[in-house]
Amino acid sequence: VERAFGNGPLKGKRIIVTSGPTHEPIDPVRYIANRSSGAQGTAIAAALANLGADVEFVTGPADIPPPSGVNVVKVQSAAEMHQAVMNALPADAGVFAAAVADWRVVSASSSKIKKDNGKLPTLTFAENADILAEVSQLTDNRPPLVVGFAAETEDVIAHATAKRERKGCDWIVANDVSPETGIMGGKENAVTLISADGAEEWPRMSKTEVARRLAERIAAALAPEKG
Ligand code: CTP
Ligand code: CA
Repeated sequence: VERAFGNGPLKGKRIIVTSGPTHEPIDPVRYIANRSSGAQGTAIAAALANLGADVEFVTGPADIPPPSGVNVVKVQSAAEMHQAVMNALPADAGVFAAAVADWRVVSASSSKIKKDNGKLPTLTFAENADILAEVSQLTDNRPPLVVGFAAETEDVIAHATAKRERKGCDWIVANDVSPETGIMGGKENAVTLISADGAEEWPRMSKTEVARRLAERIAAALAPEKG
């Protein structure tokens, strides 16, 4: 791997990257999770670091280790990820690749829930804070470039375009995560980059290559205007 050793185009830029799934506790031994491996977020953090960025890598419990050359903040739940991101501000950019759980279990039990003669437990949910939307809508401290992801299983472009507008981020990296694509948990990704200028479809490529291209785009967007 070629490394810029802090002399790349993102030298001096502080970038927050969220990655991985979150685990929402039910009791001390059980949790609700999702199928995110953390592969795309990890690759993006590595690619940004390779271009010289100071990366704050806020990661849920992923299948793969964090990249080297980044500052790693490990979290479990969406609430912890939210707190860690707010603590990591200010930044020049935020890339929100995590598959944040949409709901948490209200009043998770502090002791293991036991079977009780066939009586079933009932879980009540509350919605988690939307980290991407909150950061995008900050009036003070908003990073100049905020990038979200949209994992969809149908009408990918339409849903992702609406998501960008609703949340207020600058770019959305949209992808189709329906099971037949094999993208969730796989090595490849097929994304569409959605910005105020429209939708740009990228061919299917490795998650590493998606990360490299996205990092280049971020470097170009953060570069001082030329001319
Ligand atoms: N996101 C976030 N905090 C949340 C939920 C999502 O920061 N609590 C971010 C994700 O990291 C991603 C983007 O929002 O960058 C979109 O996530 P997604 O799950 O596709 O969108 P939702 O708004 O949660 O909508 P839905 O799951 O209903 O499609
Ligand atoms: Ca969601």
